[in-house]
Amino acid sequence: ARQWRGVVEEYRDRLPIGPDDPVVTLGEGGTPLVEAPALTERVGARVWLKVEGANPTGSFKDRGMTMAMSKVAAGDARMVVCASTGNTSASAAAYAVRAGLGCVVILPDGKIAAGKLAQAIVHGSTLVAVDGNFDDCLNIARGLAEEYPVELVNSVNPYRLQGQKTAAFEVVDALGDAPDIHVLPVGNAGNISAYWLGYNEYAGRTTAASVDDVATRLEPVATRVPRMWGVQAEGAAPFVKGAAVEHPETVATAIRIGNPASWSLAQAARDDSEGRIDAVGDAQILDAQSLIASEVGVFVEPASAASVAGLLALAELGEVPKDARIVCTVTGNGLKDTATALGRAEVAPTVVAPTLAAVVETLGL
Ligand code: F0G
Repeated sequence: ARQWRGVVEEYRDRLPIGPDDPVVTLGEGGTPLVEAPALTERVGARVWLKVEGANPTGSFKDRGMTMAMSKVAAGDARMVVCASTGNTSASAAAYAVRAGLGCVVILPDGKIAAGKLAQAIVHGSTLVAVDGNFDDCLNIARGLAEEYPVELVNSVNPYRLQGQKTAAFEVVDALGDAPDIHVLPVGNAGNISAYWLGYNEYAGRTTAASVDDVATRLEPVATRVPRMWGVQAEGAAPFVKGAAVEHPETVATAIRIGNPASWSLAQAARDDSEGRIDAVGDAQILDAQSLIASEVGVFVEPASAASVAGLLALAELGEVPKDARIVCTVTGNGLKDTATALGRAEVAPTVVAPTLAAVVETLGL
């Protein structure tokens, strides 16, 4: 079996990268598309999970970071910057190591899951905690990149979406065509825009996020595109409200965002696909997280569970077409935020004597 080479090499003909450009990669992409019988049964439609927590730094951000960081490495800048709710900074920190670049991460103080913070630290990035939310952090990161020789690697960097669109390619490559519906969590709204871009380009169409003529230059691979269903957290649901949220709040800190940068692209993805963006409450998110862990066998972080929570809620309302083929992206690994996952479970195991008899007794056998 050959080794997966990372999304730039695997999809080079569909990405804006020259033959002599450096490729900064950690082997991202090629993530499992896992059937979820427990969800299929509940929803009445066939459900798969695209498990993006299997990426090198544990989230989908790596797909965009390999592209963005490769482009930075081809230029003169020696430093990158990003604002983050944790996953972008983890990814930027790791890919900056590979590229030999410095990395500054601007984070909302106290609102980053411990695992993600650890990643930024072990990869040697410079952390700045801001007494504000993600939206404040992004404004600061943009300002830094405008005024200093520092490259911005947030998803407002168009190469990020170019890399992230490869997840849609992988879904089509695995299923043979696009699914009927694609569900994913929405925060800063880059990923829903990237999937829509990828599905369209694979079907021979360009979108507002396209940067070249690749969609029409190459043979289409898919015959159709899915409906895009986005899911936000109720306390951070600007698309559902139709306006920015000044003080976003949710247990799913990764999507605790009130003023998404890719607003118009995401709106186009929703409308042009005849899709929808809904909101779910924190309790629904945590319930979905436990369900995915205990019945599907995949441990995802809370933001990722929002996609499944949204799908379950719509199924209950009778809004899910029977027998549809549905892919839910679960965006990040549950190991990044064990505190939230264990918050509702019994943490301390019973300690017994180191004998078979004691274990048998504990098990009640
Ligand atoms: N899921 C996870 C686990 C995320 O980390 C994010 C975004 C999203 C979903 C939403 O994706 O922003 O493209 O709509 N995290 C960013 C970060 C904001 O800084 O790591 P989006």
